[in-house]
Amino acid sequence: MKNHDIVEKNIILMIVLTLVAISFGALVEIVPQFFLKETTEPVAGLKPLPALQLEGRDIYIREGCHVCHTQMVRPLRAEVERYGHYSVAGESVYEHPFLWGSKRTGPDLARVGGRYSDDWHKAHLYNPRNVVPESNMPAFPWLFDNHLDGKHTGDKMAALRKVGVPYTDDDIAGAKEAVEGVTEIDALVAYLQQLGILLKQKR
Ligand code: HEC
Repeated sequence: MKNHDIVEKNIILMIVLTLVAISFGALVEIVPQFFLKETTEPVAGLKPLPALQLEGRDIYIREGCHVCHTQMVRPLRAEVERYGHYSVAGESVYEHPFLWGSKRTGPDLARVGGRYSDDWHKAHLYNPRNVVPESNMPAFPWLFDNHLDGKHTGDKMAALRKVGVPYTDDDIAGAKEAVEGVTEIDALVAYLQQLGILLKQKR
């Protein structure tokens, strides 16, 4: 009883103890995730993005595609029927940073790989109204004129390797050659076409 009086009358102590109590609640939820195989092991067949797709991913980030598009199919019936297999953590273990997002102005893209042809994507990105008349997605025509120089592609891979993405020395050495001179649109479409295909094929 006496101890309780001390806590009730000392607001600073009360705040500190409240924070400790809450953080235990959070830890109990979060810490086990680090040790669950399901959340740390890559899904079967997952490989680090090849140089061209990796550059495509950076263009996706630069152009703000992730601001309107999520890459996270939730395990809800309506989503699974529309997009395909819900997203699992093992698909994202090589993703730095994640592009899951939470705001959908356009549709989720987690499983868009293989849904359309390369030509469809190009027509769509050049001007979305070409293929979806009611679309309010912005056009990205400059991607057709810009060419990659590959100056930093190897460095990006080396940096990703530091955080656990298993790029080999050969991947890094060949990175510049793999992307030099390719248009940004080809890199972006190559990136889009591999999104989510590992689990989609199994359905
Ligand atoms: C201002 C919001 C916005 C931005 C930014 C945006 N989109 Fe979209 N996107 C949409 C909307 C809305 C649609 C649905 C209409 C359509 O298909 O054009 C869409 C549709 C799509 C689709 C077709 C998806 C499907 O399943 O039918 C793809 C692929 C796509 N966007 C890729 C991109 C890429 C790549 C970028 C970045 C270069 C991008 N979007 C940027 C709003 C956006």
